[in-house]
Amino acid sequence: MDKAIFVLNGPNLNLLGTREPEIYGTDTLADIETACQAVAERLGVPLIFRQTNHEGELVDWLQEARTAAAGVLLNAGALTHTSVALYDAIKAMAIPVLEIHLSNPLRREAFRHQSYIGMAAHGTIAGFGLRSYVLGMEALAPLIQVRS
Ligand code: DQA
Repeated sequence: MDKAIFVLNGPNLNLLGTREPEIYGTDTLADIETACQAVAERLGVPLIFRQTNHEGELVDWLQEARTAAAGVLLNAGALTHTSVALYDAIKAMAIPVLEIHLSNPLRREAFRHQSYIGMAAHGTIAGFGLRSYVLGMEALAPLIQVRS
């Protein structure tokens, strides 16, 4: 398969490792990329792994993914709970988009209980730290018809 899996990360996820480790653990974003890369190689699919602190850049990347990606894992960080623009971008996509979170937002503050991403995504994996991404990669495989 020549189309890639896009793993897109939103605000503050560049700080993983030192950011609230009691909630997010001590794995860094580089550790998560390494874990995703290992699954991508096993699946035989290219991986594009990115992070941005800017909502519009995430919108641009989701639009890029419409033609360049086979499927998307999206951890939109706090934009999960606020961004109608990301909701609309996902609704405009025909490929599967999975919502990913390290923590389980439903166990946390009430403002994290609403997810614009979850309302548009194929499904959600949350609460497993770095493993949420690995599980997401594995969940995406049958949806994009690569070997799994
Ligand atoms: C998060 C959960 C969000 O509520 C939070 O704003 C984040 C990280 C997670 O991966 O657990 O930045 O998306």
